[in-house]
Amino acid sequence: MSMKQIKWGILGTSMISATMANAIQESAAGELYAVGSRSMTTATNFANQFGIPVCYDNFQKVLDDPEVNAVYIGLPNHLHKDWMIRCASAGKHILCEKPLVISTDEYAEAFAVVGNASVFCMEALMYRCHPLVARLCDIIRNKLIGDIKAFTAVYMADIAHLANPVAGGSIMNLGCYPVSLIRLLAGIDQGKSFAEPVMISATGRVNENNRDNQASVLLKFDNDVVAAVTTADDMGMYHQFEIYGTKGRISMLTNPWLPSENDNRFIIYQSDNNLTTEINVTAEKTLYTYQIDSVNDSISVNSRECNQISWQDSLGNATVLEEWLRQVQKSN
Ligand SMILES: NC(=O)c1ccc[n+]([C@@H]2O[C@H](COP(=O)([O-])OP(=O)(O)OC[C@H]3O[C@@H](n4cnc5c(N)ncnc54)[C@H](OP(=O)(O)O)[C@@H]3O)[C@@H](O)[C@H]2O)c1
Repeated sequence: MSMKQIKWGILGTSMISATMANAIQESAAGELYAVGSRSMTTATNFANQFGIPVCYDNFQKVLDDPEVNAVYIGLPNHLHKDWMIRCASAGKHILCEKPLVISTDEYAEAFAVVGNASVFCMEALMYRCHPLVARLCDIIRNKLIGDIKAFTAVYMADIAHLANPVAGGSIMNLGCYPVSLIRLLAGIDQGKSFAEPVMISATGRVNENNRDNQASVLLKFDNDVVAAVTTADDMGMYHQFEIYGTKGRISMLTNPWLPSENDNRFIIYQSDNNLTTEINVTAEKTLYTYQIDSVNDSISVNSRECNQISWQDSLGNATVLEEWLRQVQKSN
C-alpha cells in the first residue's frame, strides 16, 4: 500500500480524540488532515498540538471538506447516530466510538443511511484489533480448554463524574466491552463469528436520574453456555475475565479490554493433563494504531466492514445492552 493515502478528520477534541490523533499519525496509511470542534479556540489548540493542517469550528464543516476521506466520531454516545448519518450522507468513511448506538432503533435509523451509502463503518471497539484477541480466539477454536461452558467478567471504572449523563451509564460505557468479548468467544467456540444470547436476566443500581451506576447480567447462549457480567462506573477501576471449559479454564491476569504493548497475560489451566501455562501476548504497536490500521486496510480494499467487528456484530451488542439496561431500570 502506498503511504498516507487516507485523509482523516476528527470530530471532537477530548482525551480519546487525542489518543486517536496519535494513532492516525502512527498508522501506515492514515494522514491526520482535519479536526472539528464546537469552538475554534479548542479546534486550533488541538490542531496545534498534533500538527493538523485544517481546523473547523463545527463538526459539519469537516464532512463538507472534499479532501476528507474518513471521519473518526469521538463524540458522546447519544450523538453517534446523527453523526454517522451525516458522515454517510457526505460519503465519508466512518470509525465511530463505542457504543455505536444507544438503542436498536438508533441502529435501524443509522444503517438505513449508512447501509445505502458507499462507505466503510466500524464501531471503535478497539481491543478487538489487538493480537491478544486473535490469540484468545485461536485457543478457543483449537479447544485447548474443551467446549466453553461459562464466563465471568467484571469491568468497573470510576468515570460516572466524567461521562455525559445523557450518553448512558455503566452498561453503555463499560458493559459493552465484556458483552462483546463474550459474544465473540462464545461464537468462536461454536464455529461462528459471534453468538447471541438466548436468554438475558439482569439487575443493578440506578441513581436518582435512572442512570445505571452498577449493573449485572446473566446471559445464556446455546449449548448451555452461561456468562455472568458485572459493571459499575462509580466504584474504582477493576477488571476480571475468566473462561471455563469442559477441559480447563482461562484466567486473564491483565485487562483484556485495554491491552497494552508489553503486558497482556493470561493463564491456561488444562484439567485433563494438569498443565498450567502462562502466556503473554506482546504487540508491535499501540492498541489504537492497530485499530486505525485495520480500518485503513479495509477501506483500501473497498471493504465496507472490518473483519474484527461487523455491522451485525455491533447490532448484536446493541441488542444485549438495550435489554440489559431495560431490565436494570425496570428492577429499580
Ligand atoms: N475507546 C476508548 O478507549 C474510549 C475511551 C473513552 C471514551 N470513549 C468513547 O468516546 C466517546 C467520547 O467520550 P468522551 O468521554 O470523550 O466524551 P465527552 O468528553 O463528553 O465528549 C467528547 C467531545 O465531544 C464534544 N461534545 C461534548 N459534548 C457535546 C455536546 N453536547 N454536543 C456536541 N458535542 C459535544 C466535545 O468536543 P469539542 O469540545 O471539541 O466540541 C468533547 O470533547 C464516547 O462514545 C465514549 O464511549 C472511548
